[in-house]
Amino acid sequence: MKDLIRTLTEAYGPSGDEGQVRALIEDTIRDVVTELRTDSLGNLIALKRGSGGGKRVMIAAHMDEIGLIVTHIDKKGFLRVGRVGGVFAPTLMGGRVRFANGTVGVIGWEKWLRSNDAPKWEEVFVDVGASSLDDAPVQVGDVACFDRPFEELGDRLIAKAMDDRSGCAVLVQMLRELGESPHDVYAVFTTQEEVGTRGALVSAFGIEPEVALAIDVTDTGDVPEATPIAVDLGAGPAVKVMDRGFLAHSGVKEWLIDGAERLGIAYQREVLQAGSTDARAIQLTRAGVPTGALSLPARYIHSPSEMVDVRDLQGAVKLLVALLREPITL
Ligand code: CO
Ligand code: ZN
Repeated sequence: MKDLIRTLTEAYGPSGDEGQVRALIEDTIRDVVTELRTDSLGNLIALKRGSGGGKRVMIAAHMDEIGLIVTHIDKKGFLRVGRVGGVFAPTLMGGRVRFANGTVGVIGWEKWLRSNDAPKWEEVFVDVGASSLDDAPVQVGDVACFDRPFEELGDRLIAKAMDDRSGCAVLVQMLRELGESPHDVYAVFTTQEEVGTRGALVSAFGIEPEVALAIDVTDTGDVPEATPIAVDLGAGPAVKVMDRGFLAHSGVKEWLIDGAERLGIAYQREVLQAGSTDARAIQLTRAGVPTGALSLPARYIHSPSEMVDVRDLQGAVKLLVALLREPITL
């Protein structure tokens, strides 16, 4: 699973341009699914047809990552940028980004070495080695993502885009291990989550699931001076109770919790006071869908070095595989 996470996190895939990630995932699951298709928003929908008598289950993880979009290029070839998704200015200084065409840039700041304050967006620029507008290797509207290699610290893994390639890896691994299931399992690798869960919205409408889950990262409260949240890295996947945009369906929540208790899989309960996931969009589709979320604890979310614990991911796979092999009663 570590190799899969390395491959997925090192791929380029800002919201709206998830093609590289999608191609990688397609290659890894083609042999184990019944049907594979891509819809008009770029969502990759993988159906593993059940043996019958089960439910239509949708499980979503998003392929897209946050990025910087070129808004303006000045006479000297410096790029001014806006954000695609929740990029935080303090995570940027001195970091590197990479564009779809391979162009690498250094993130600079007008007040470099002259201030210890957090940079303002309008003071941030990207240096791609150009010396004039004419030799800039990118254009207005091009998008760059963080450029950092994957690293392994024992069970702890660090990379950009763990949000939510680690969720994609869980979904891939689940499909590989699932085997026989009564349910029609729709694994949906969604697009444009970071700009407002747009891919999940349309894919859920099309699939019309009877039960749904989103697999995404959540914050932890185990680093110095963290905002209180009862989620620790390495203590198991977290069953979401609530976040800012979502209250889990009680039946789906209990389904996950009962399963984890019964199988002896470590889990946590999550109440996140910020953010939301694809679960919100799926839940509000059509006349409403019973939806829950299984979260992967992660530190430094939306930074170039997001950290997860592979044991939490393995726990999530184990729980999903076991639950999907049994009948679902909510
Ligand atoms: Co995110
Ligand atoms: Zn996410």
